[in-house]
Amino acid sequence: MLLNSTKSIIVFSIVATSLSLPLSYALSQGKSEMPFGGSQDVAFAKRLWSALKSADIVGANRINVRPFEGNEPHGSIQQVLDTNVKVQKRTGRVIVKVNHMGEGADIDTVHANPNKYVAAYTVMFKKPKGYDPENQDWFWVKYNPDGSLDTNPKGMMLAGRVAKGMDEGCIACHRSIGGDDLEILKK
Ligand code: HEC
Repeated sequence: MLLNSTKSIIVFSIVATSLSLPLSYALSQGKSEMPFGGSQDVAFAKRLWSALKSADIVGANRINVRPFEGNEPHGSIQQVLDTNVKVQKRTGRVIVKVNHMGEGADIDTVHANPNKYVAAYTVMFKKPKGYDPENQDWFWVKYNPDGSLDTNPKGMMLAGRVAKGMDEGCIACHRSIGGDDLEILKK
């Protein structure tokens, strides 16, 4: 009798684990499949753009800082603004890089015509601690010149922990050549 009930407990627990394992695995996979481009990231990226636009950090009326020559994959001529911005109720540090490309784009022509050669805005925004602890809690986003989100070849929106864990992309490149805070210009 005693032996029997022990056996049935063992059998039960084996069934229970074999059922719960694939379920929790599936759940965790579903989560980690989306380090970026999910609906929350996209919604946040839109709010961030509006906040940046109101503060004249992006868009046609943005502050026209002195351009400089940059490297691939960012534009050949760049402008960088490093400041703080309030998104909803929280203020966070933001680094906005305006990437300029095209024939005729040089430091002087870009400064004189700041909207003529804009190819993209690449932005890093500091999220609260815990957002992405392994990568200094940066939110990465790439906007087209009109503020819409750029996508990767798979059609995923470039907003969030962009390409986290992959060999190429914002995080991989900034991790390999950036400083402790994954910043490259201030290394
Ligand atoms: C292959 C390397 C590489 C990739 C991929 C890359 N960057 Fe960068 N990034 C750089 C380099 C190099 C600089 C320094 C400026 C320069 O020389 O162009 C830089 C500078 C920046 C800066 C200015 C702050 C700093 O770190 O100095 C921002 C903001 C930025 N990148 C955002 C992004 C975003 C967003 C993505 C992805 C959509 C991205 N970067 C992908 C190489 C990369």
